[in-house]
Amino acid sequence: MKKAMILILILSVLFVGCARQEDNPADACQPSSEHDSHATVETSAGDVNNQDVNNQDESKQVEESQQPDVVFVPTPQDVVDKMLELANVQQDDLVYDLGCGDGRIVVTAAKRYGCKAVGYDIDPERVKESLENVDMNNVGDLVRIEQKDIFTLDLSEATVIALYLLPDLNVKLIPQLKELKPGSRIVSHDFGMRGVKPDKLISLFSEEDKEPHEIYLWTSPLKMSEEAAEQDPSLATTWER
Ligand SMILES: C[S@@+](CC[C@H](N)C(=O)[O-])C[C@H]1O[C@@H](n2cnc3c(N)ncnc32)[C@H](O)[C@@H]1O
Repeated sequence: MKKAMILILILSVLFVGCARQEDNPADACQPSSEHDSHATVETSAGDVNNQDVNNQDESKQVEESQQPDVVFVPTPQDVVDKMLELANVQQDDLVYDLGCGDGRIVVTAAKRYGCKAVGYDIDPERVKESLENVDMNNVGDLVRIEQKDIFTLDLSEATVIALYLLPDLNVKLIPQLKELKPGSRIVSHDFGMRGVKPDKLISLFSEEDKEPHEIYLWTSPLKMSEEAAEQDPSLATTWER
């Protein structure tokens, strides 16, 4: 089943790649992670520390052609809990979830640790769900949700980054992740980051979906590894435990 889920994620990337090429079928099925031409989706910005967090986007300018690089598949709640535990989240942390889906990671971080958190997603449906989740859990004073392309973000203010993307998308984020302050933590559900050695890789069995899961932990500054760079991204889970 786990392999099936990963296959679905990968197929979804290919599907999005095809969908993006509808106007030019001859170019169909280029990898959807070719994201460089995406324009930024602007929403209400500002320092999370000073924000009036009402989670309403006042200045949204969404470019129609923007598509997610990977479809929404939620992280089971018990895996979310473990990700935040592995990242050693504290009240003074600022947690970012890059591709926040329904907002469960940022909502959990705020509820459990009382920290500030920002969820970013490119899909307006996900942003809507996240905002509802924030409201339902009364964490609007701590959590902000923004509709943005994660590949346009300045991550330097974050102290914890949560990821559930795909191996190549994790790799594509490396230049942004290198801007994190020393000691910042990155946790990734199921997928590694080619060329960067994790500090920890744990496996756990989720009681929610009855499937095995893996969580990677990296600490800033990232430890680039030649040996790792030689590895195939699809073999990311062969890291030493
Ligand atoms: C596999 S889901 C993970 C959701 C959530 N982080 C979780 O673990 O439950 C990936 C999310 O990333 C979002 N996404 C994909 N490409 C994106 C991009 N370029 N910028 C922002 N969000 C993106 C999708 O819309 C989707 O909600």
